[in-house]
Amino acid sequence: MSDYHSIFQHSIQSPQAFWQKAAEDIVWQKPFECVLDTTEAPFYRWFRGGMLNTCDNMVDRHVREGFGAQAAIIYDSPLTEVQKTISYQQLQNDVAILAGALKAQGVKKGDRVIIYMPMVPEAVYAMLACARIGAVHSVVFGGFSAKELASRIDNSGAAFIFSASCGLEPGRVINYKQLLDDAIDIATQPVNNCVILQRPQAPCTLIAERDIDWQEFIRNAQPAECEPVAATDPLYILYTSGTTGKPKGIVRDNGGHAVAMRWTMKNLYNVSPGEVYWAASDIGWVVGHSYIVYAPLLNRNTTILYEGKPVGTPDAGAFWRVISEHKVSAMFTAPTALRAIKKEDPHGELVKQYDISCLKNQFLAGERSDPDTIAWAQTHLKVPVIDHWWQTETAWAIATNPLGIEEFPIKPGSATLPAPGYHLQVLDSDGTPLPADTLGNLAVKLPLPPGTFPTIWGDQQRMYDNYLATYPGYYLTGDSGIIDSDGYVHVMSRIDDVINVAAHRLSTGQMEESLCRHPDVAEAAVFGIADDFKGELPLGLAILNNNCHRPHDEILRELIAGVRNDIGAVASFKLVAIVARLPKTRSGKILRATMRKIANQEEYAMPATIDDPEILPEIEQVLAELLKNR
Ligand code: COA
Ligand code: AMP
Repeated sequence: MSDYHSIFQHSIQSPQAFWQKAAEDIVWQKPFECVLDTTEAPFYRWFRGGMLNTCDNMVDRHVREGFGAQAAIIYDSPLTEVQKTISYQQLQNDVAILAGALKAQGVKKGDRVIIYMPMVPEAVYAMLACARIGAVHSVVFGGFSAKELASRIDNSGAAFIFSASCGLEPGRVINYKQLLDDAIDIATQPVNNCVILQRPQAPCTLIAERDIDWQEFIRNAQPAECEPVAATDPLYILYTSGTTGKPKGIVRDNGGHAVAMRWTMKNLYNVSPGEVYWAASDIGWVVGHSYIVYAPLLNRNTTILYEGKPVGTPDAGAFWRVISEHKVSAMFTAPTALRAIKKEDPHGELVKQYDISCLKNQFLAGERSDPDTIAWAQTHLKVPVIDHWWQTETAWAIATNPLGIEEFPIKPGSATLPAPGYHLQVLDSDGTPLPADTLGNLAVKLPLPPGTFPTIWGDQQRMYDNYLATYPGYYLTGDSGIIDSDGYVHVMSRIDDVINVAAHRLSTGQMEESLCRHPDVAEAAVFGIADDFKGELPLGLAILNNNCHRPHDEILRELIAGVRNDIGAVASFKLVAIVARLPKTRSGKILRATMRKIANQEEYAMPATIDDPEILPEIEQVLAELLKNR
């Protein structure tokens, strides 16, 4: 079987046989008894009874098999002007020592460990050290606020944290230690120890008894062996945005994840062991977990850890420099990063300055790839530009052009075909499958393939309510779209209040909660509007309390600062206005979709259920004023 259609059909009709075969590429300490446990459906578990260690499969096995000298990680940091190559052998040594130090500190299998770190090798060591001893890591993206970090400490129950004195953004130093201290103050979960990596750009003061310098922490540690864990044991928790501010901890298991991650490297990315693979994301996002850390190391690739930006570090040629210098054969980034480059280098002059003939394919995900960006990249990079669609929940692509199996013609605007393992359908509101070319809700018939989330941390019911209850027997993706008559998947938009800002997933509901916390605000609405650069931007409208007579400018500044403080800089919340009224349906539902259309200058029909049509002209005026200088 070598063609996509028969492989896909096999994966859907005989998922157990399909994934059992893929599992042969993983080293198991004890074979699994059952490929797919369906006894608690709709909650499925892969490879029950099996024991393995994910770190062993990523590091030790490659050393054992004679590849210790191969580069595992290339750290390339234009922000610090440092480059460092770490071999598999060095990685094994460093991770084993760190894992030994963790054990000596009392951290054990199943304990949760927060990692709040910039893009430095030590962050990857920390992830792997947890995996090595069976501790469960939860990486928190550096652009989140202290409050967000605190909510993750509380929800995960982590008593141990890895962090660094600072992170670096172009032209400024982010004081991670201050954010960490503030978060620990806010959190109710007691944190016993923080291991802090002191960076020369901004060393920090350590708090006696609680904080430990990274070098001190590992000084006398003994290397720890990989501890076998159950395939169904949690490997990590990654928090993502839902419809409210309540953190939603996506859980990843060890067995299914290792099998799926390794399988995707050859089959979906067409990358063989030994090749250099680069995902220009951040380890704080799922792309970073899956394709900076887990999948490339499981597949014995060399992964690039890039501490820089697509532009400004130092220019829009940075990506092409990295590709040519490190001989990258496949690269993965977000369309927004290419738009940033295209804006500064519309004719691709900087691409020509580098020999990027090593690059075979460019992959894009995180948001819909607009056809202009795909065309620009194809023209200048001269390689296939592959849009693929996935989510934190799935850890890998739901729809893609499966290059290692069969390459399909690219249709810009489409993520190509469902990946093997995903029985994807478009459903109407009653759950009836819709014919080709008809817009509906994208849903995946259960079971989901290995690697996808088995549960939400501490809240199985929420997993059911959010994803499984709407259509019994299906996983609701939260995206709407169509499957066309060629079987191509076109992901159009979210059906909930999640927005994608510079490929960062954010909740407008959470931003509304933040605005409503302001003492002068009576009610607020936040929705995403189209943006040429970041894809979407949040826009807020607030109604003030009747007794508030403070200057509006002052309140607006406080609202912007409030969202930054509650969620973080990454929210990019800068557009907000005060209104007298908000348009609503007769049942009181705010008409966010209509306001979004007005802001985007799209045609809109007067909603039949609108309570007071007179409000819309007022909103049109406010939005025109707010957006006129954008
Ligand atoms: N730590 C601290 N702050 C951070 C941060 C981090 N790791 N990452 C971003 N921020 C801050 C930024 O400095 C910015 O702050 P400002 O409002 O004070 O300027 C704010 O968060 C918004 O950041 P962002 O939306 O990323 O905008 P940007 O202009 O700094 O960068 C891009 C734009 C396109 C270059 C950048 O968003 C990018 O590379 N995106 C790709 C995202 C990605 O890889 N997603 C994963 C899916 S593939
Ligand atoms: P995240 O969980 O942060 O990876 O965000 C997942 C969401 O990003 C998806 O549910 C989609 O809304 C969006 N997304 C990711 N990749 C794509 C893509 N290739 N095309 C369209 N939307 C995408």
